[in-house]
Amino acid sequence: MPRTDGDTWDLASSVGATATMVAAARAVASRARNPVIDDPYAAPLVLAVGVDFFTKLATGELSPEDLHSNDSPVGIRRFADGMAARTRFFDDFFADATTTGIRQAVILASGLDARAYRLNWPQDMVVFEIDQAEVIEFKTTTLAGLGATPSAELRPVGVDLRHDWPAALADAGFDAAKPTAWIAEGLFGYLPPDAQDRLLDRITELSAEGSRLAAEGVPPHRAEDDEQVRNRMQSNSGRWRDHGFDIDFSELVFLGDRAEVADYLQGHGWRTTSAPANDLLVRYGMAPLDDDEGFAEIRYITAVR
Ligand SMILES: C[S@@+](CC[C@H](N)C(=O)[O-])C[C@H]1O[C@@H](n2cnc3c(N)ncnc32)[C@H](O)[C@@H]1O
Repeated sequence: MPRTDGDTWDLASSVGATATMVAAARAVASRARNPVIDDPYAAPLVLAVGVDFFTKLATGELSPEDLHSNDSPVGIRRFADGMAARTRFFDDFFADATTTGIRQAVILASGLDARAYRLNWPQDMVVFEIDQAEVIEFKTTTLAGLGATPSAELRPVGVDLRHDWPAALADAGFDAAKPTAWIAEGLFGYLPPDAQDRLLDRITELSAEGSRLAAEGVPPHRAEDDEQVRNRMQSNSGRWRDHGFDIDFSELVFLGDRAEVADYLQGHGWRTTSAPANDLLVRYGMAPLDDDEGFAEIRYITAVR
């Protein structure tokens, strides 16, 4: 179903299913022979959502190799490698941020991210998680049911990031006078380009000096390339449909021209560094992606205010 202004979802439908998909990839990556990440919560969370296809991937009943196809631009194995590198990038970002004395973190679009439970946070750390209400509620309840306890003071905030999330964050006790470490992982493609700008503006307004931001930037596509991108996504969705999972990912994203995140932040008082996905893969000991594998154009940005 195409996106609409006020659409909402749970973890098995629409944009919510992408959170389950990347958690399944973290489960696959955590089971690899020499794992780059260890996310013990990924598989149990995916199982709790109960989408058969992702459950089978998360448990290993379906292996990435079972889904391999020669006409596929990027298989599940390489997707899991990419998610492992991305996970480590944001994990390392938080570790660095806390060494500068930051004690307040905001995970935007937290999905099934378990960092508030699995990272080794300083004792006085406060972590806010923002996502749609149903997503927040599901993860918090499921992890509590599994006996997991947060390793920081966790304050989940269920609100749509297209709405007045700064007010909801303030209600949850966010202190804009303190420096904050923000992450936006796997989010921007699901926001229209102007909503991405507004989100970055609001983060900037709420960021005291010394704040840091790490984000995954989707490549700006020229309108004439949109169809090629959509076809690539539809081909992946088509192969997954053969395994009983029927969501067309190309309908969930907003393509077209959008601001390059690092440039935008630099224009708003941030100092930035940016690395392509392949730099991360190599940094964490994995082979780079070929140019035609789609994800190679994604950039990972770190910014300091
Ligand atoms: C690909 S998932 C990434 C989840 C998580 N950051 C991770 O990497 O595991 C995208 C997430 O963005 C959230 N999201 C997208 N648009 C949103 C919006 N307008 N408001 C709140 N959450 C949103 C979805 O609910 C979903 O959890």
